[in-house]
Amino acid sequence: MSARVVRASASAKINLHLGVGPVRPDGYHPLATVYQALSLRDVVEVRTAAAWSVQVGGERAGVVPLDLPLGEDNLVVRAGRALAAHHGVDAAAAVRIEKTIPVAGGMAGGSADAAAALVALDRLWDLGTSSDDLAGIAASLGSDVPFALVGGTAVGEGRGEVVTPVVDVGTWWWVAVLSGKGLATPSVYRRFDELARAVGTPSIPPGLRDALAAGAAAGLAAHLGNDLQEPALDLRPDLRDVLALGPAVGALAALLSGSGPTCLFLADGEPAAYDVRSRLHSHGIDPALTLVAHGPDAGARVEAE
Ligand code: C5P
Repeated sequence: MSARVVRASASAKINLHLGVGPVRPDGYHPLATVYQALSLRDVVEVRTAAAWSVQVGGERAGVVPLDLPLGEDNLVVRAGRALAAHHGVDAAAAVRIEKTIPVAGGMAGGSADAAAALVALDRLWDLGTSSDDLAGIAASLGSDVPFALVGGTAVGEGRGEVVTPVVDVGTWWWVAVLSGKGLATPSVYRRFDELARAVGTPSIPPGLRDALAAGAAAGLAAHLGNDLQEPALDLRPDLRDVLALGPAVGALAALLSGSGPTCLFLADGEPAAYDVRSRLHSHGIDPALTLVAHGPDAGARVEAE
């Protein structure tokens, strides 16, 4: 009998607003964030196997660094083990990840892979796990894995794992400029602490919800924000010039994605996004490091079996 195969996908996320409070006793920071899932999806394929294995491929040059953990430390293996443990089953799988989301780019690519692995393995093993249980397992794997399950546009609270969908009537076009070199999330949070940037309990600006409900890009542009941007720029001053370039070539706004180093530019629709992208190239940005994506996109889902 040939092994059963299930393919699932999940999207990259960006934070339209990332409000960060003072570090908690457990080392995490309280967040008030608005996530958006982008049309940039990793695919995770799982097949029945006697032991865990992970293979990674990427269609984008430079997306997959050589030091991506492929063994037991890979988040998809941890996801699989957590799902199996939740149901008390002893099962393993051979996993293949096709990466499109940049690794260590501040777009939660590893979390997307974990979320895709959860829905793929749930189907492969015929477990029928409830959404609440999947969300709980996802939260145990990482702060933004629960959002990767649901996708769309959603508020994230707690350490980011408490996810509530918000009204979003728009289709938002983004140009992303990737960096050849990743930035580790814990180091950006550490610099946030060192710079003493926490000013109290974080909250979502009401204007942001209004802009999402209205659907106009110029309205959204005025309400984007990221408390991790200054600490990340402190660690990577070279990104300041990249961020400044977007508005200079017609983008409505510039924003660091999560803890960086990916830089995001909001464009006024699809043609404007491609226009901004080509102007970035004429200003010296490497075309291999730019992409256009739109949001909101769907959460983790099974694509084929
Ligand atoms: O939850 P996750 O494993 O993705 O978080 C990675 C790291 O990012 C944590 O170990 C912590 O240093 C930092 N983090 C944080 N506060 C959050 C989320 C993440 O300090 N709300």
